[in-house]
Order: sequence, then C-alpha cells, then structure tokens
Amino acid sequence: MSSLAELLRPRAAVDLTKRPRRLRASPALRALVRENEVRLSSLVQPIFVADDGQTKGEITSMPGVFRFSVDGAAAEARELHALGIEAVLLFGIPDFKDSVASSAHDPGGVVQRAIRAIKSAVPETLIVADLCNCEYTDHGHCGILDERGDVDNDATLELLGRTALSYAEAGVDVIAPSDMMDGRIGYLRATLDASGYPNIPIMSYAVKFASGFYGPFRDAADSTPQFGDRRTYQMDPPNAREAVREALLDLDEGADVLMVKPALAYMDLIRAVREVSDVPVACYNVSGEYSMVKAAALNGWIDEDRVVDEILVSFVRAGADIIITYFAKDYARRRTDSRGR
Ligand code: PBG
Repeated sequence: MSSLAELLRPRAAVDLTKRPRRLRASPALRALVRENEVRLSSLVQPIFVADDGQTKGEITSMPGVFRFSVDGAAAEARELHALGIEAVLLFGIPDFKDSVASSAHDPGGVVQRAIRAIKSAVPETLIVADLCNCEYTDHGHCGILDERGDVDNDATLELLGRTALSYAEAGVDVIAPSDMMDGRIGYLRATLDASGYPNIPIMSYAVKFASGFYGPFRDAADSTPQFGDRRTYQMDPPNAREAVREALLDLDEGADVLMVKPALAYMDLIRAVREVSDVPVACYNVSGEYSMVKAAALNGWIDEDRVVDEILVSFVRAGADIIITYFAKDYARRRTDSRGR
C-alpha cells in the first residue's frame, strides 16, 4: 500500500517546469505582470437632473444614486472633478411631458440648464448628454408615435436633431443618442455639421439591447413605457452578428465612439466591436448591473469593493476604452483614499 503523499506525487510524465504560480507569489510581482488597469480618465458618471417639481433624493432601487437639482448637479460635477472623474453623462427628468417630447428641446429645459450650470461651475468637466425622448414623452416611448401606436422612425429623427442642437447651443461637449432609431447617427451628424457644430463628437449607443437590466433606471428617470415595450427599436438580446452590423452602420454614418449596452451580459460584443472597428469603444454598466451588486453587498453576501474592482477591469480586458458606470464616484473616492494612506 502506498501512502497518500506517494500517490499524489507527480509522475515523471507531468511537466512541472512550467509553473504559472511563480508569477503570483507577491503583490509586487502580481503588479509587475498585471495586464490591464482601470484609468479614472476612462470613467463616466451618469447624473440624473430633475426639474424643480420632481422629487430629489436617493433612488430607491439604486442605493447611493441621487436625483439632483440643476444646482445640485453642478455641485456634484465639482465633487467628481476633485476626485478625478472628469466626464459626466446627463439624464433629464422634466416636470412636463407630452406626446411629442416638447420639453426635450426647450432651451430652458432641465438638461440645457444643467449643461450651462456645470460648464460655469467646472469648465474642465466633459459633459456628455444622453439624447432620447423617453423621459420627455407621456407615453414613455423613445420617439413620436404614429396613428398605429408604433414609434415613427423618421419623425423621431427630426425631434432628435432639434434636441441635439439645443444641447449644442447650451455648450454640451458630446452627444450620446440612445434612442435606437435607424439612420440617426447620419442625420445628427449632418444636422450638427450644417448648424456650425462640426466638432461635437457623437457617442452612439450603437449596440443597445431591449434589456431587463434597465429596470432601476426607468424608476429613476420615470421613463417606463406606458404600454408595450421597446423591442421594436432596441435589439434582441440573442443577436451578435446583428450587433456588429449595427455598430458598423453607425461607424459608417459618422459615429465617433461606439457603445455597447448593457455591459456585463454582453462582454462578447464589447470584444467584437473592439475587433471590427478602430474608434474608441464604450460600454454602459447599466442600472440593473449596479443594483444587483448593491443589493448583494447590502445583504453582506459579497464584498462590494472587490466585486466592483473585478467588474470594472473586466470591461477593460474585454476591450472597452470608456466605461459609463454608477460606481465611478465611489471607485474614484476609494482610489484617492488608498493613495493618500
Ligand atoms: C434612454 C436610456 C435608457 C438607459 C439609458 N438611456 C433607458 C431605456 O432605454 O429604457 C438605461 C440606463 C441604465 O439602465 O442605467 N433610452
């Protein structure tokens, strides 16, 4: 009878000259061979800005995320800047909604005012404005409806163009259309160029799926469709070839940055878009992805900091250059704290 130790001893046939564990032996060695890293300059913090009549405060389904007033948004941008987060993505929550999203292109609208307030408070901060209609329509769809109740693609383009111009006039740095209408990138590029804004980049939500992960956002932005769903304009989750086609179409129409959204369940597509294009690729770590982590962490089931570190670097590993995430502020604060220690 041989002992357990003898049994477990490697046979001669096992090649143990290759020992990957050699490079994991110490923190310094692991740091030396580390392949990817999250840069604070790659992170974008979404900010919800509400008109006066809307309730401020924490969003129930997104612990740690707030609806800000216009002034509050400017103060938040200043805090973010001090922590090293220099880009924000604005979402408006208007007091007034109608069937044609009139308040989306109001020069005195909530996003237009927030752009001006942030620009004057922190001129260095890069302001990206989400461009969509669902927060501004009373029916909650991303465009104008035709008589059958379907979203009218071409009529919606005109509306998007008007809103994009009003953001440009307010001083926005980047426009991020998230509506998923066909041809919107080409239309918006032409509209901006013809109106004296050829230098405003378009960050296209190119690969955007009809996803259950947007649930908490719709609570936050009060943008749940009143009937039906978004499946006739947002993409069908099982489709990967179509995602590449959508990305290439937007590239062809003049998108400067291509985004994949959601991120965690669509990492294969972050990689795919990275490989078929040479523009910067963004991913959106959406509300449901944030809330899942928060809920588990608040229950003591996972270590939030570790999990967030893993998630953010996995986006970089997958090929993302830009990461839109509700964790940006916390993450930056943690990095700043540990450097100070
Ligand atoms: C607007 C828009 C949505 C999100 C970003 N822009 C909601 C949606 O498409 O229903 C979702 C962001 C998130 O879940 O964090 N169309």
